Amino acid sequence: MIDKKKMTNMEYRDWINSKLTINKEMLQLSQEEVKGLGITNEEIIELTELSMIAYSAGEVEMPAKIGIHPLHDTFFHAQPCDYPAVYGCGIKWGACYPENRQRFGYAQTTSQYIYNDRESGAPLCIMDAVWITEIRTAAVAACAAKKLANVKAKTFGMVGCGVQGNAQVMMMQYALPELEEIYILDNYEPAMDALIERQQPNTKAKIIKAKSYEEIARKCEVICSAAIIKEQPDPQFKDEWFRKGVTIISSDAHTAYEDATVKRADKYLLDSIAQHELLAGIGYYPDGLPKVYGETGEALGGMKPGRENDDEFIFVNNIGMGCEDVIVAAKIFETALEKGVGRKFIL
Ligand SMILES: NC(=O)c1ccc[n+]([C@@H]2O[C@H](COP(=O)([O-])OP(=O)(O)OC[C@H]3O[C@@H](n4cnc5c(N)ncnc54)[C@H](O)[C@@H]3O)[C@@H](O)[C@H]2O)c1
Repeated sequence: MIDKKKMTNMEYRDWINSKLTINKEMLQLSQEEVKGLGITNEEIIELTELSMIAYSAGEVEMPAKIGIHPLHDTFFHAQPCDYPAVYGCGIKWGACYPENRQRFGYAQTTSQYIYNDRESGAPLCIMDAVWITEIRTAAVAACAAKKLANVKAKTFGMVGCGVQGNAQVMMMQYALPELEEIYILDNYEPAMDALIERQQPNTKAKIIKAKSYEEIARKCEVICSAAIIKEQPDPQFKDEWFRKGVTIISSDAHTAYEDATVKRADKYLLDSIAQHELLAGIGYYPDGLPKVYGETGEALGGMKPGRENDDEFIFVNNIGMGCEDVIVAAKIFETALEKGVGRKFIL
């Protein structure tokens, strides 16, 4: 594998040119090709963590993502990012349509990544980004758990058993190695059965179907949610159900939680404060943005303390960031070039 750290930008560009003529050719990668490149979970966790720290340290250019909302409770987000340290530059165009399964029989999240050359702006690659979203979001949750949860936790709860539910159950084991019980919940029973069938063979902890949100809140020390993002909160968890010292790591904003829960957290962290301020501006926080302790990347990078004692109630709200996408997209692009995977298009 090439080592970009030992190359100047122009040497790296020459390496790309030796495989793909920049500004004449462009690579296209399908979802299966991206998945089949052999990039490991450990690599994804490391890259994702680096990118979150870099964002919070001001080392990337990443505006809050803008979006459009064609149908009720749906969105498209544009997630551009320039990440000089990894020569990464590009944009993800991703959609989330929660009714897709009922209407069309497929998942709610679809996306494409356009990866560009930082020096000339030329497009280098268009790749399916469903796997990028799947794996980096789960890695974000695992990274957050490493610093903000009690890493000796025995119980973990997962709300939403779709693409994210599966990926987060799988990834959480890197952060919480002592888990004994994993409670899962989905309002579509077959999704829970499918998660158990897929994840139990590779999971030491016992995966158990929870009966209710209340059971998850009362039993679990660490809770992740990835079910549905609504334009207005639609609380399913009652604040009084949560245990002392719980860590909640949300990938579906604060939809499932009461305002009292987010506001009473000892530490309320966001992946990007700018992003959540933008969401607040378009109505996603009808009761106002809670007092923010800091960014997830600040806790990961040691700029702010993470969990300081067993009793802290910590809420981490990660809505997803372009820096996570671009660092994984760069890795995918380079690996595909090295392995000769994908199709070249003439521009
Ligand atoms: N933060 C991020 O970076 C990020 C990235 C990807 C996805 N997401 C969000 O995560 C969520 C899940 O995405 P996915 O790709 O796994 O979708 P998916 O469609 O594969 O799975 C969602 C699951 O949630 C279940 N569900 C829906 N409403 C529910 C409810 N009220 N209670 C319990 N279960 C419910 C569905 O039955 C489904 O099985 C979406 O809201 C998506 O926008 C966030």
